[in-house]
Amino acid sequence: MAAETEEIRGIGHSVRRVEDDRFIRGAGNFIDDMHLPGMLYMAILRSPYAHAKLNGIDPSRAQALEGVIAVVTGELMAQHNLAWMPTMSGDTQAVLVTDKVRFQGQEVAAVIATDPFAATDALELIDVDYEPLGVVVSPQQAAAAGAPLIRDEKEGQTDNHIYHWEAGDQEATDAAFAQADRVVSLDTWYPRSHPSPLETCGCVADVNPATGQATIYMTSQAPHAIRTVFALVTGLPEEKIRIVSPDLGGGFGNKVPVYPGYVVATAASLLLGHPVKWIEERSENLISTGFARDYHMHGELALKADGTMTGLRVSLDADEGAFFADAQPSKFKVGLFHIVSGSYDLPTAHVSADGYYTNKAPGGVAYRCSFRVTEASYMIERLVQNAAYEIGIDPAEFRKKNFIEKDQFPYKSATGFEYDSGDYQGAMDLALEKVGYDQLRKEQAEARKEGRLIGIGLASFTEVVGAGPHKDYDILGLKMNDGAELRIHPTGKAILKISSKTQGQGHETTFAQIVASELGIQPEDIKVMHGDTDNTPYGLGTYASRSTPTVGAATAMVSRKLRDKARKLAAHLLEVSEDDVEFEAGRFTVKGAPDKAVTIQDAAFAAYTNFPDGMEAGLEGVTYYDPPNLTFPFGTYAVVVEVDAETGVWKVDRMVAVDDCGVRINPMIVEGQIHGGLCEGFGIAAMEQITFDEEGNCIGANFLDYLLPTAWETPRFELGATVTPSPHHPIGAKGVGESATVGSPAAFVNAVIDALWPLGVRNIDMPLTSGKVWEAIQAAKAG
Ligand code: CDP
Repeated sequence: MAAETEEIRGIGHSVRRVEDDRFIRGAGNFIDDMHLPGMLYMAILRSPYAHAKLNGIDPSRAQALEGVIAVVTGELMAQHNLAWMPTMSGDTQAVLVTDKVRFQGQEVAAVIATDPFAATDALELIDVDYEPLGVVVSPQQAAAAGAPLIRDEKEGQTDNHIYHWEAGDQEATDAAFAQADRVVSLDTWYPRSHPSPLETCGCVADVNPATGQATIYMTSQAPHAIRTVFALVTGLPEEKIRIVSPDLGGGFGNKVPVYPGYVVATAASLLLGHPVKWIEERSENLISTGFARDYHMHGELALKADGTMTGLRVSLDADEGAFFADAQPSKFKVGLFHIVSGSYDLPTAHVSADGYYTNKAPGGVAYRCSFRVTEASYMIERLVQNAAYEIGIDPAEFRKKNFIEKDQFPYKSATGFEYDSGDYQGAMDLALEKVGYDQLRKEQAEARKEGRLIGIGLASFTEVVGAGPHKDYDILGLKMNDGAELRIHPTGKAILKISSKTQGQGHETTFAQIVASELGIQPEDIKVMHGDTDNTPYGLGTYASRSTPTVGAATAMVSRKLRDKARKLAAHLLEVSEDDVEFEAGRFTVKGAPDKAVTIQDAAFAAYTNFPDGMEAGLEGVTYYDPPNLTFPFGTYAVVVEVDAETGVWKVDRMVAVDDCGVRINPMIVEGQIHGGLCEGFGIAAMEQITFDEEGNCIGANFLDYLLPTAWETPRFELGATVTPSPHHPIGAKGVGESATVGSPAAFVNAVIDALWPLGVRNIDMPLTSGKVWEAIQAAKAG
């Protein structure tokens, strides 16, 4: 690899994000910035009921409103065989309701009008006859005898159960528990939360009636996969569909699913011969689009008397909402949850999971996490801290005793993962040192004597990212491999086309840096294109921290392919044999005669002007990368809190985050990703939660009810890094985008529990509002 010189600013340099230039100037190109000639506007009527039979819809008053062009109903969609669509999990989902509504906020009808205000006003004039039905808002209710059947349209579906899934060795795990000196258990619920991207979802569908070409500008993290699904849903030939995902104002998993709005807008454009724009309002986004989490979990650790872990048993009930719609590898119904053994050397483990339909919006998106790893990480890190206290060992000591050690990698976990690399002790040592752990424990003991409740919480998490190897990872049968296409122009400037889709992570900067390191072309001379299915190679998109492990690898590999050809061109220009040519930092030199040199730019020019006989002209190529394994970033987070026992208010004094994502392409961007993730982790631990009342009304439809942390509440973060390269990744990088959200909630909660443990508090479910903390203290006091 070329040296990462100051001049070239490849891997390891904190290059400023090229994207920011247009964003800071307000010159980004988001969906709502788009205006096409003759464009119409769509608004969606959503159900006020969570479960209700649809007896009829009368659109006549709405249709009479000035500016209204059409009212689209489920019946109309059914005439075109579009009333239902497949989900990314192989289930089906109603596009517009034909039989009954199954969650509050479900799409019932759509109005197409000449302006957005007429479209919205007309919604109130659609008369719908609903007949309310019994409502199910939890997996426990869903499983209860006599529960209302939510998916009665599905042939053979007689209850609300979706799947049962298991991993690990049940027999061996049961044996470990039978022989255990001690068993520690924890019941916990990871509440439903919302990714809440700044920009809501939307699209502009433009179907050309003359050519049949459908161009759909869309807020999508996975344009290629969406195009394939669209082709399957609409029957349109795939080459006639172009999905363009322009600038995205955040995604966080919320922009992975196919939403009915996209399908209805496309159908309306097809039927009306005009482009149709649909933009969600904030409350629609919060009520009806991809939620995350909602896992009710039970975990047990089998332990020897000295604190050695010998087995792990976890069972969970997943609230999937009314349609099982989250995109995740099809082999794993609960994503990669079986990483629940975390950073620990557990000889046996068994995980079982049951999914249920409820009268809630479909959820389970990979919200800043690799397919349910956040839930898993939370479970094990909470359980480990409680186990340490039950046994009477300091939680840091307890982790150290049970960590997978550095020399055990590659390590085969009890639930089937092969961890590529790790140094858990190294990350924890650094975090403990940075936070001043030993001193803090002394201060904590002193403070307790004065009646002050200080808590120190740790989380030593392991992420698993980069899905994935084709053998095990696909979504709807589409293998999770990704591509990069690189073309170097005659003047030595380049264009890199990637299958991932940046939503604020800075791919236009970091992927150019990978090419810069491999080829010695400066990042500013490399344009990175993404998000347009006609102009980028196929791939499954950006979520679950998969871009660096997959597309980053493809980028390095295609650069190497071009470097090999450029070496041939350099040999031709230097009139030496290829074996005599060396490469470093964008220069090909003759071995032993470093003054005889040509640059990568010279070689590129020769590829179009002066190439040897028998060689094809040009300098371009494409690579699809099939990763040999996932990558396993990790870290240790340490949080210090003080809890006011009188009020339950807790505040964060310190937050130290040590992350290891292997080689950092752009350390500044990595730190930005970690800051974002820590902030989200704090929000989930402290204040974010979408609740539902017993009638299925969603409480959390606006940012007054759904509390996102602002700069006011968010604590200061102190970051640290260790570097353990992934041995199989071409540049040794592991993904990082989600790690901090995965790792941090447990650290915050553990800190509060640490403060309250001596009072007898063992567990509080997130979010830890002051009211809940106060109640837990009172309950513990009452015995
Ligand atoms: O898939 P997503 O882009 O969300 O996640 P990622 O692959 O973890 O990358 C997030 C951002 O951090 C991208 O801009 C990466 O290129 C960058 N990154 C990095 O600079 N070094 C790493 N080792 C990992 C990610």
